[in-house]
This record gives sequence, structure tokens and C-alpha cells, in this order.
Amino acid sequence: MAPFQRGSKNKESIDMAKVEWESSLSVGIELIDAQHKQWIEHLNDVGAAVEEHHGPDRITDALSFLIGYTKTHFDTEEKVMAEHDYPDLAAHRAKHESMKDTLADLVRDFEEEGATHELANAIDTMLVSWLKRHIRTVDHLLADFLKEKGISPAA
Ligand SMILES: [Fe+2]
Repeated sequence: MAPFQRGSKNKESIDMAKVEWESSLSVGIELIDAQHKQWIEHLNDVGAAVEEHHGPDRITDALSFLIGYTKTHFDTEEKVMAEHDYPDLAAHRAKHESMKDTLADLVRDFEEEGATHELANAIDTMLVSWLKRHIRTVDHLLADFLKEKGISPAA
């Protein structure tokens, strides 16, 4: 039996915070806002899969989609920053890299322990709060820079 199936047998209830799109999360750049909305949907899919005790395959799928989309989105932002000589590119990219490491750690924990309360807490505290903080700080600065230059990036 694969190790991640252990945790899936634990049917204790797990409550996940659902992230709702709110105007304070808008940075005012259409492409970036649209991708953030998608990111939130994928994040909520992971939360729902954990909360509803779907089998490990469904949780694995949701995590894979989230990781894939995270990479797409970070690549988009980094490409825009590089194209327009954004001065804080290196610092912003470093934050993306640390998020990718966090996601890889979460997947490893899930594979080892299953859908535990620790995993649920890690998703709530690390992913949800990271996302909101990241959007409201570094992504906002990037958006301000783009708006100041009159740049409206396309996908
Ligand atoms: Fe970002």
C-alpha cells in the first residue's frame, strides 16, 4: 500500500478556509488579476479535496494542478518583469522560488502522511496567507510600476 493511503483513512472532519476573491486582492492589471483568480480556484480545489476526504488521487490531482498553475503564473510575472527591466525582479523571483519550495514540501508531506490536519493547517497558513500577502505587497508594487509605465501585459 502506498504510504499516502494511511492518512486518507482518517475520517475526522477537516475544515478548510475557502479563499474568496475580494477587491483588495485586485492589483488593477487585467492579466495578473485573471491569473490570481485562477490560482485561487486551484487553491480552493485543493482545500475542497482535503476537506471532503476525497481519495488521495483527487488530492494529488488538485495539488498537481495548483503546482502547474503556480509555475505558469510565476513565469508570466517574471517574463513581464524581465521584458520591462523591473528593478525588483530578483527579489520578487526569490519569493516565487520560496513558494515553489513550500509547495514541494507540502506534496512531500502529503505523500508521506496523507490528508492530515497538519496538511490542512499548512495549506491555510502557508498558501492562503502567503498568497494574500504576496498579492497585496510585491505584486501590487509590480502592478504600480506597470501602470506608471502605461504597460498592459498580454498573456
Ligand atoms: Fe508575484
